[in-house]
Amino acid sequence: MTPLLDAAEQLGREELAVLQLARLRATLRHAYDHVPFYRQAFDRAGLRPEDCHSLADLARFPFTAKADLRDNYPFGMFAVEQSEVRRIHASSGTTGRPTVVGYTEKDLDTWADLVARAIRAAGGRPGHKVHVAYGYGLFTGGLGAHYGAERLGCTVIPASGGMTARQVRLIQDFEPEIIMVTPSYMLTLLDEFERQGVDPRTTSLRVGIFGAEPWTEEMRREIEERFAIDAVDIYGLSEVMGPGVSFECVETKDGLHISEDHFYPEVVDPFTGEVLPDGEEGELVFTSLTKEAMPVIRYRTRDLTRLLPGTARTFRRMEKVTGRTDDMVILRGVNLFPTQIEEIVLRTPGVAPHFQLRLTREGRMDALTVRAEARAQTGPGAREDAARAIAAGVKDGIGVSVEVEIVDPETLERSVGKIRRIVDLRG
Ligand code: DLL
Repeated sequence: MTPLLDAAEQLGREELAVLQLARLRATLRHAYDHVPFYRQAFDRAGLRPEDCHSLADLARFPFTAKADLRDNYPFGMFAVEQSEVRRIHASSGTTGRPTVVGYTEKDLDTWADLVARAIRAAGGRPGHKVHVAYGYGLFTGGLGAHYGAERLGCTVIPASGGMTARQVRLIQDFEPEIIMVTPSYMLTLLDEFERQGVDPRTTSLRVGIFGAEPWTEEMRREIEERFAIDAVDIYGLSEVMGPGVSFECVETKDGLHISEDHFYPEVVDPFTGEVLPDGEEGELVFTSLTKEAMPVIRYRTRDLTRLLPGTARTFRRMEKVTGRTDDMVILRGVNLFPTQIEEIVLRTPGVAPHFQLRLTREGRMDALTVRAEARAQTGPGAREDAARAIAAGVKDGIGVSVEVEIVDPETLERSVGKIRRIVDLRG
């Protein structure tokens, strides 16, 4: 398939850097002039917006953390008059106050353009029907995907999340080519297709654009095979924009190109904050380059990845996100992410791609139980083999011992949006 590129996607690296620096300097100025939080932070660091002479100078500026957004709840991080704010989104968060974000007319316009870019990179074209099963509401997934698909000239089916049986009906009746949904909810849809006796490989779907949670190459294979579609990744976070900060190209499926004309990425050591060279793994940090309502300067995403050179685009890529610093489990001194377990469970015969991690405490030691679901046809002997294979896979691959429980089919909670992998029972 010939990739179609918009003007910014065709910039050379040097032209891009010139554009980025001009936009960066304007963003620093805008944030300093209009957001007391940034003015104080820059003043404390003894810096003025005009001290940024090169892209590398950004590293001298202070970070912004999620807690800073919470402290300025609800609208303290906004850099424009409230009457200029066209839309509010919020991310629920597991604790305390939600993080609130705002968009001007122009911000919404940029967002739609960037999601359209992502859908096009996935193989979407004007006239395609796009089934959006990300949740609509304060979450950025539904509306973000929606306006991007419309911008590209697609026909949007705004299904939102939930009512799984109806989703399957709509897909059969409306015949969309593209689905946008979390990968875990796609698996819930898979079960429902099978329950209704419909072969998921026979639907009209050709491409799935999956994001909002970490997922692995093993999961890509599972979804591509079971649905006979191409599965590509889309990444984003509310604080920076929403879906479409970076996106995978269907012709390479090799990590996510970052829309560097609008977001400047850095990868830093999560402990020291030191900027790491491209290719090294660390915490992803973003600075917005064009946002009006809520510019973010060096926002710490807590997502772990590495920056790589562009392939299908000149924009740099980020590797598929392996996990968030918050999702890391430390088990007897060994760091472990749910995605590592996903890889192992998905390559184990006899188990379905559904699993849950239970954290408990025995005395002063933390213990982890991997609960994976047997496939319908898996007998008792094969279940024991699967349990042994998963335990051995974790021991060999990650270097730690875990309990494995193979549970009956259809017993683990199903996702309707972002899945919760870890159940923490440590009290
Ligand atoms: O999840 C935005 C989004 C919606 C992205 C739909 C893609 C598709 P938040 O609710 O603010 O925004 O959550 C952001 O989700 O920091 C990551 O930890 C995680 N995340 C998002 N996309 C991916 C992805 C949306 N493709 C947080 N891979 C981020 C891994 C992802 N993690």
